[in-house]
Amino acid sequence: MARRIRVVGIGSGDPAQLTPAASAALSSVAFVVAAAKSEDDPLLDVRRALCAAAGIPLVAVRDPERDRADPKDYPAAVRNWHDARVEAYAAVLEQNPGDVGFLVWGDPSLYDSTLRIVGRLADRLEASYDVVPGLSAPTLLAAAHRIVLHPVGKPVLVTTGRRLAAEVAAGHENLVVMLDGGLTCLDLESPRAWWIWWGANLGTETERLVSGRLDEVAGELREQRAAAKADAGWVMDTYLLRATAPQVP
Ligand SMILES: C[S@@+](CC[C@H](N)C(=O)[O-])C[C@H]1O[C@@H](n2cnc3c(N)ncnc32)[C@H](O)[C@@H]1O
Repeated sequence: MARRIRVVGIGSGDPAQLTPAASAALSSVAFVVAAAKSEDDPLLDVRRALCAAAGIPLVAVRDPERDRADPKDYPAAVRNWHDARVEAYAAVLEQNPGDVGFLVWGDPSLYDSTLRIVGRLADRLEASYDVVPGLSAPTLLAAAHRIVLHPVGKPVLVTTGRRLAAEVAAGHENLVVMLDGGLTCLDLESPRAWWIWWGANLGTETERLVSGRLDEVAGELREQRAAAKADAGWVMDTYLLRATAPQVP
């Protein structure tokens, strides 16, 4: 039977947030491959704990360096980084037989390169692959704040901190922002008043939530982000930004 690669969404990484289907998928593989950003990557520890609970070995692969110095050619930098990751993972898979799992924060459909990399790995190794969905950060954010992510009948744009200023300049008024390591929303040059629903380390014991008018909660956002990082040793945050006053609920 062809070797199978399983891409498993793990939500926040807290065992309580793992769906039964994700748990079953994790238990079905011979080993898990996980990228490590550094020797003491705290996010690697979270995945190690999940694998240990399932009795599955985890093979850590040091993440190749990404060229972050030249934002002019961002797509080329990402392409080169993906190539290097494919090489690194292929080497591990060639040495280790059996079905393999890749664990993805949240859900694999959003701002994650695992599926692109696994597609290439599967072609190269003549393997099949499947995807088990997980709870995405926007889903966890909406639940934590008890909100709908868009006003009635209106769209929501999911974007990144890197693109936020351009999306606002283009007229978007309702945005979910991910991959924003620096609360870019606080640097927005916009004549509008904005409301924010923010969450860090959502779905974990170190979850922090802030909501309110952006200019009024700026200090609290900075404090809570720092506090989440101090508590967990890592911080990931996601927020909804809206240009109109909140409706209830
Ligand atoms: C590589 S992306 C992965 C997103 C993921 N695929 C998802 O479905 O949410 C990492 C970004 O997701 C968001 N994120 C992931 N986990 C989070 C969490 N527990 N709390 C808040 N934001 C989170 C952050 O914006 C972070 O920069």
